[in-house]
Amino acid sequence: MLNAENVKNIAVFVSGGGTNLQALIDAQERGEIRNGRIVFVLASNEKAYAIQRAEKAGIEHQVVSRKAYASSGEYDAAILAALENRHIDLIVLAGFLSILGPTVIEKYRNRIINIHPSLIPLFCGDGFYGKKVHAAVLASGMKVTGATAHFVNEITDGGAIILQKAVPIEQGDNEDILQYRVMRQAEWEILPKAVSLFCEDRIRIVGNRTEIIGTSF
Ligand code: GAR
Repeated sequence: MLNAENVKNIAVFVSGGGTNLQALIDAQERGEIRNGRIVFVLASNEKAYAIQRAEKAGIEHQVVSRKAYASSGEYDAAILAALENRHIDLIVLAGFLSILGPTVIEKYRNRIINIHPSLIPLFCGDGFYGKKVHAAVLASGMKVTGATAHFVNEITDGGAIILQKAVPIEQGDNEDILQYRVMRQAEWEILPKAVSLFCEDRIRIVGNRTEIIGTSF
């Protein structure tokens, strides 16, 4: 039985267009983020179009610019300050292209979910972000790619996998076409699902793997 008092507060971190944020907002409006609500959006750069999406949806937002801080330690401290008193249960990295430091990761251990545009452990880790991922996938000659929703730990893209979905690569694809197909067919579907599963306490972490509790999702 879901209890209104247990509804989890979600902060979404963004850096760019914010289509994954939009997918989360749309899923929330359809009632598909069960037991969670997006209460805060944090942007790492003031030009991120994602900020307009938060504004339009009436979600509180703040820019904590990576450029404004000399070290990742100072940036971590600024992020923690922005989250203070907001009672955040889950951080979602939805196209957040700055690397979080150990203080934030430790404080929100097993409570940070990232969406990555490939089938981890392929095409991930330092330097693999955005279209660079799709360029590397196309150069590899693989016929299938996809997206991964996973927990964040100290290893870039190395935390436990929650959900994955495969997407075909078609002849004639370029980075833009492939990026859009991966977003539409995989990211916008599995990220809201993973967030809802977390908010419903249906993800069990077993070492660096996860198990989903229950069958319907
Ligand atoms: C998405 O494709 C997301 O998977 C990727 O950046 C894009 C952001 O788009 N994230 C990474 O590459 C993280 N390593 P969006 O701002 O429209 O959601």
